[in-house]
Amino acid sequence: MTTAAATAIPGAESAVGAVLFEANGLSVSFGGIKAVRDVSFTIRPGEVFSIIGPNGAGKTTVFNLVSRFYDAETGTMAYEGNDITSVPTHRIAALGIARTFQNTELFEHETVLTNLLIGHHVHRHTNLATDLLFLPRARGQELEFRRKAEDVIDLLDLQRYREQPIGSLPYGARKMVEIARALCLEPKLLLLDEPSSGLNPEETEDLSFWIEDIVADLGVTVAMVEHDMNLVATVSDRVMAMADGAEVATGEPAEIQQHPDVLRAYLGH
Ligand SMILES: Nc1ncnc2c1ncn2[C@@H]1O[C@H](COP(=O)(O)OP(=O)(O)OP(=O)(O)O)[C@@H](O)[C@H]1O
Ligand SMILES: [Mg+2]
Repeated sequence: MTTAAATAIPGAESAVGAVLFEANGLSVSFGGIKAVRDVSFTIRPGEVFSIIGPNGAGKTTVFNLVSRFYDAETGTMAYEGNDITSVPTHRIAALGIARTFQNTELFEHETVLTNLLIGHHVHRHTNLATDLLFLPRARGQELEFRRKAEDVIDLLDLQRYREQPIGSLPYGARKMVEIARALCLEPKLLLLDEPSSGLNPEETEDLSFWIEDIVADLGVTVAMVEHDMNLVATVSDRVMAMADGAEVATGEPAEIQQHPDVLRAYLGH
């Protein structure tokens, strides 16, 4: 395992201005409320790109658009140079985009390991996924999945929880399992929706190290929705601030934290 981001992402160091993901003019409404309005942004390979903003700003909805849970009413999205605006949601993980959810969505009665194995079939029905794992045809695949899951367990230091049911884990460990499950899909782009919510300051600091490891050791690009400005400032290369469904400003963390329009947006809420 290498620790140098530049070697983990071949060509990234020479590809100044390279783009992994690009959204152009995205909008979506719910019952007449524009949750996201004309939002454009790019995510560069190897960076941590954070989205901040007051409650209801449209941050999670942007993730739901990127992961194709929702259809955009206007706008386009490109990933690795290919238009993915209309790609079905079940193909998103196969393309290399994985996500975690604002509220952890794990199988409470299953062990950490089982949750990670099911993660490989995250877009399928649970029973089908479980069945598939035991079909003879799927055995080879299962072994490979297991190897990947064990690697991720090692990487995120989850060995001690490996055989424990999710329901018995401390909250901080659950959040890490959620990230581990997404990593088992071997994404190039990992979307984290409020990874620090519910964590104490020490766990949040640990999380910042994990995020840095995920980027540096795995070469994964991270897009993160987050309220903890300390975490945002620590790990982010660039930050997009949103309010009322629209982009307010995008730039380096320090710049965005002091941006008058961003401060005004928070005060307004
Ligand atoms: N499926 C939906 N149906 C109806 N309204 C929705 C839906 N999803 C989001 N909204 C609305 O869209 C707006 C943006 O919501 P969103 O969840 O994206 O905000 P957010 O920035 O993630 O907020 P928070 O920080 O509280 O998580 C809100 O007004 C929300 O009520
Ligand atoms: Mg949200």
